Amino acid sequence: MITFEGAGKRHPDGTIAVEGLDLEVPTGRITVLVGPSGCGKTTLLRMVNRMVEPTSGRVLLDGTDVAQLEPAKLRRGIGYVIQQAGLFPHRKVIDNIATVPYLLGWDRKEARARAAELLELVGLAPETAKRYPFQLSGGQQQRVGVARALAADPPVLLMDEPFSAVDPVVRAGLQEELLRLQSELHKTVLFVTHDIEEAVRLGDQVVVLREHGRIAQLADPHTLLTTPADDGVAAFLGRDRGLRGLGLRPASAVALRPVGDGLRYGGWELALDDAGRPIGWIDRTAVSAELHPAAGFRPETDTLRTALDAVVLSPAGVAVALDGDGRATGTASRDAILAALTPTGATAVGGIDANADESSDTNVGTGPDANAGAKADAKTTVSTRKALAADGTGEAGTTDRVGGPEGSDGGR
Ligand SMILES: Nc1ncnc2c1ncn2[C@@H]1O[C@H](COP(=O)(O)OP(=O)(O)OP(=O)(O)O)[C@@H](O)[C@H]1O
Ligand SMILES: [Mg+2]
Repeated sequence: MITFEGAGKRHPDGTIAVEGLDLEVPTGRITVLVGPSGCGKTTLLRMVNRMVEPTSGRVLLDGTDVAQLEPAKLRRGIGYVIQQAGLFPHRKVIDNIATVPYLLGWDRKEARARAAELLELVGLAPETAKRYPFQLSGGQQQRVGVARALAADPPVLLMDEPFSAVDPVVRAGLQEELLRLQSELHKTVLFVTHDIEEAVRLGDQVVVLREHGRIAQLADPHTLLTTPADDGVAAFLGRDRGLRGLGLRPASAVALRPVGDGLRYGGWELALDDAGRPIGWIDRTAVSAELHPAAGFRPETDTLRTALDAVVLSPAGVAVALDGDGRATGTASRDAILAALTPTGATAVGGIDANADESSDTNVGTGPDANAGAKADAKTTVSTRKALAADGTGEAGTTDRVGGPEGSDGGR
């Protein structure tokens, strides 16, 4: 655990970077620091590995004041990843990754073997080993940066906007990769970003900072999105926070209407093939038997956001739940999806009114899982994200990065 106790940093020119910060960074979890440019995120991070010495208060690593630890030794136990990866340009990838093992005096062969192992762990091809950093894409360089930070298997990882220099698609891939790695490695991660989307995607807890490193809110992603501490935090989270909250919750919490209960919804009927896979929706009130695409979701791996998206795309206003073989297992109405968000099923988060639909086809509170939303605590949030990370097909896995307040990345 990393503990900040009244930690502060005042620079010689009088600038206060951070003032009186109290924060606990729990072991084995990802804590994300998010906040506007200049609020002290990098300063905070660097206090942990003594690249910045606090001018007041202290920082403890598992109960020991880091000021009592020899900096070089301290840093070998802490992986550090920065924007643009910060690789040594004149060293091959393999030797970049092996930097810390070399420093630790490992046998060269042993260090390179470890580096090769890490190359694979971060999803890079073995041939990458003998290239130089300039021969890699930005995303590949970031992966090398992560591998280098992990080389000596440090329990703590400090990551300062590690993915902000790459395009949104590559960035989403790197985020998935980090979650996958974390599900295996359980590092104590302190991760800095400008991007609130990234923060809620990665963080077990998210710390929203204001000027001078003051904590505006510390919460798990779901609580943050649904219950911002004040208007300032709400503004920082942006207008889509309700929808983003849906992206954190597993679709498995939705009470489905079983296929056996019939496939008619108003004038629409769901057509299935012999194996039970949806073919499309048929408008029974129309003369033609034209098929309209049946948008579906997979309760086991998708989020409520995907389920709701399927409702919006469906002409019948109902999403089809699919099993791993693409067979329909049930249907979900908009209300059922929104009911899965809240224990009471009464009011959904983010200003979406769950009571607005009086459709007779809804199934709010009728299924055995009607209250499953109550279970969607931080734990299920983590497992959803892991599911997304493992699967990568969720809509959150690609380009839907909703812009949070973004500072300029230039020149830093
Ligand atoms: N060496 C220094 N001397 C004086 N002021 C400094 C120094 N280093 C940082 N600061 C100031 O401390 C404050 C916090 O800086 P820090 O780099 O921690 O911010 P940040 O939150 O990481 O910003 P960004 O998001 O732009 O990276 C800023 O106002 C910055 O100008
Ligand atoms: Mg910074």
